[in-house]
Amino acid sequence: MSFLSNLEWRYAAKKFDTTKKVSDEDLDKILEAIRLTPTSFGMQPYHFYIVTNQDKKDVIQAAAWNQAQIGTSSHLIVMCARNDLMTVKDEYFDAMSGGSVEVRANLRGFEDMVTGFIPHSSPEWAKKQVYIAQGFALAACAELQIDSCPMEGFDAAAVAKILELPSNLDVAVLLPIGYRADDENPRPKFRFSKEKLFTNIV
Ligand SMILES: Cc1cc2nc3c(=O)[nH]c(=O)nc-3n(C[C@H](O)[C@H](O)[C@H](O)COP(=O)(O)O)c2cc1C
Repeated sequence: MSFLSNLEWRYAAKKFDTTKKVSDEDLDKILEAIRLTPTSFGMQPYHFYIVTNQDKKDVIQAAAWNQAQIGTSSHLIVMCARNDLMTVKDEYFDAMSGGSVEVRANLRGFEDMVTGFIPHSSPEWAKKQVYIAQGFALAACAELQIDSCPMEGFDAAAVAKILELPSNLDVAVLLPIGYRADDENPRPKFRFSKEKLFTNIV
């Protein structure tokens, strides 16, 4: 199937088949799509937890309006934004320069620009980057014919507590993945027309 027909095929699954699990190989591809996501300045101000522990998924489901796609998922990807942006910046430039003083010096102009930007940013800025990663993950899932459900309907503080997350992380979105349950009955896909969504300026 083509990229677009896979996007037609996908929908936000409400319940997964608990007998089917996403393979390690496919999971790696989805995580690689997340890793390759473009971000502002390339900073990747995020961290992801991949939850397969059934007890944890069940407790998180309770903190998410009891939405069954969490407990029935094969893997639950908890997508977090980092709020310690100056530390992210240091890690980024440390890693990119690979410990070379010379490379770091060559990156100085770029690093100064990012350092100047951070005080003007907000936790919302990091969350926007997470949403781009979620989009890439959704497209990767569709390409692999793996079902998924992007989710904002949960209590972020409760999820952070359940997973005992460090304070530098804010849970932004959840992404349960798996294979659709047989008795799923998704609403017909509705999207606005191209005329409604796009305007050509020539
Ligand atoms: C950021 C975001 C948050 C969403 N949160 C939820 C959610 O909490 N629960 C849910 O069942 N669907 C959720 N959805 C799924 C949307 O309702 C769904 O994508 C939309 O209705 C379009 O339908 P489709 O994805 O099935 O084509 C969310 C989607 C996005 C992009």
